[in-house]
Amino acid sequence: MCGIVGYIGTKKAYPILIKGLKRLEYRGYDSAGVAMISDCGELNVYKTKGKVDNLTDYCSDKDVTGCVGIAHTRWATHGEPSARNAHPHYSRSQNLAIIHNGIIENYADIKMQLQTKGVEFKSDTDTEVLVQFVEYIMVKKNLPLLEAVQVALHQVIGAYAIAIVDKREPRQIIAARKQSPLVVGIGQDEFFLGSDASPIIDYTDKVVYLDDGNIAVIRLGEELKVLSILGKEQQLKVSTVDLNLGQIEKGGYEHFMLKEIFEQPECLKNCMRGRINVEGNHVTLSAIIDHRRQLLGAKRIVIVACGTSWHAGLIAGQLFESLCHIPCEVEYASEFRYRNPVVTKDDVVIAISQSGETADTLAAIQLAKQKGAFIYGICNAIGSSIPRATDTGTYIHVGPEIGVASTKAFTGQLTVLTMLALCLASERKTISEELYRQMVRELTLIPAKMEQALKTNEQIALLAPIFTYARNCLYLGRGYNYPLALEGALKLKEISYIHAEGYPAAEMKHGPIALIDSEMPVFVIATRDRLYEKVISNIQEVRARGGRITAIVTEGDTQIQRFADHIITLPDTLECFQPLIASIPLQLLAYHIAVCKGKDVDRPRNLAKSVTVE
Ligand code: G6P
Repeated sequence: MCGIVGYIGTKKAYPILIKGLKRLEYRGYDSAGVAMISDCGELNVYKTKGKVDNLTDYCSDKDVTGCVGIAHTRWATHGEPSARNAHPHYSRSQNLAIIHNGIIENYADIKMQLQTKGVEFKSDTDTEVLVQFVEYIMVKKNLPLLEAVQVALHQVIGAYAIAIVDKREPRQIIAARKQSPLVVGIGQDEFFLGSDASPIIDYTDKVVYLDDGNIAVIRLGEELKVLSILGKEQQLKVSTVDLNLGQIEKGGYEHFMLKEIFEQPECLKNCMRGRINVEGNHVTLSAIIDHRRQLLGAKRIVIVACGTSWHAGLIAGQLFESLCHIPCEVEYASEFRYRNPVVTKDDVVIAISQSGETADTLAAIQLAKQKGAFIYGICNAIGSSIPRATDTGTYIHVGPEIGVASTKAFTGQLTVLTMLALCLASERKTISEELYRQMVRELTLIPAKMEQALKTNEQIALLAPIFTYARNCLYLGRGYNYPLALEGALKLKEISYIHAEGYPAAEMKHGPIALIDSEMPVFVIATRDRLYEKVISNIQEVRARGGRITAIVTEGDTQIQRFADHIITLPDTLECFQPLIASIPLQLLAYHIAVCKGKDVDRPRNLAKSVTVE
């Protein structure tokens, strides 16, 4: 949800800003812009609709000199995607320029007040209101930029990560955060700003993750200073980023999404490393050692998440109930936060989020905290807001996920959730020693089985063109594979723009069966498990109505090929681990169909990877 980059130092700012924007394009890509204080002291703002490449084309004949600048890639909230609404925004005098990620909720009131004082606006954005407000305060109270920002932020309601430059103070960038991420990189005689560390890691591994309510005063030739909005100096918490360039580049793959699909076996090994012992028969999670009483005493688990993370939660909910005998509810964070739900101090609330920044999930955490629940975070982005807002948690350690459609984070989340369920079940003695060992052992075999599943890539690439004509698709599964059907449908929708629905296979006859005809592809996850025979009956119901079936089956299956048009075969595993393996052909299907349709797989329209607004 909008990417922020900034640079101040002795190098040319423009190439650093553009490279940083490209790294952050996953956060939004409907428009982009830069503001730089040129060598002659001008504050130049350039912005264009569309992706960062449009911006660089536009800037090719512009003055892009200067060693100070801020840049932004946008995911529109207020105002249509256009050059006019793109960031940075000038103040009226054009002395100031701002970039912003988040939403200023009371922007309309502030705008009205400013309009009555004669301030005119050039865009429809809440962001321009903020920079005009800052300038108004500077003039009215005769304050320098830093103080004016403090006064303004005091009156602002909403979420923000901002950076502001003032051409009259060219050796300074003021940045601030509330509920939207912001990282400052500290180099040799230079500083960097980023929504995450990815635009910074080429230059330094020393970063400061700003906390909510922090203002960073970044001045050339001085130490970085972090203040509270009230001006109180905060202690600097410098961290070392553990991220390498290979992790955020495509490494020979055509798209990040394909790279991330293929990385999954390695990612899961990283996720399990140090948690499952070398003998492969025991799982330990430090969170359980540190918070034994709260976790083992849970009377109920409530999972809150959005999107793909919610699907991982749905699968985990079944595990917590069957292995740990703990009642579990799985909630959309966006619904939970506004429902006044019953939550008590005996509940453990598990928040799942790849980015660790999703606004609805963060708000759900705050609500559950107020009600006294113990909060456990399962996140990927290290140092992001959710891990910092939770009582404890486990990182999935699958490395940066750049493709907007989540793939490796989903299987990483499932792996951590499975390890958590196994730990709790073992400690609570709700699982037999034999089943526990069998499950832990099988979990360690999943990366190798995923490698096997990845071999379906060529077959799926050949199948994909058949489905490009489809306007609607149905995904069916039962038990653990039902949430996977939802996830398969979501993947297809996200990147190919084909409407798709996931359904519990048996529920199909209560409605969606009416849609089935020879033009509607039906994907059925029919791996061998307790409900296998039932799923075969569901397949026959589709078949009898002329539906075109593609079935994902377990190796050695001889029955389903009689009813299905296409079969994709996967290695066998325990029922509850099937989603880990079967997610691979579903991801590949969505990927290849979208590629065949010529879609921008890594940056699908209207979506963003990190949704920091509600
Ligand atoms: C966005 C992304 C999805 C993701 C969801 C939740 O919609 O496009 O891929 O599943 O947000 O994000 P989170 O970072 O909280 O897992």
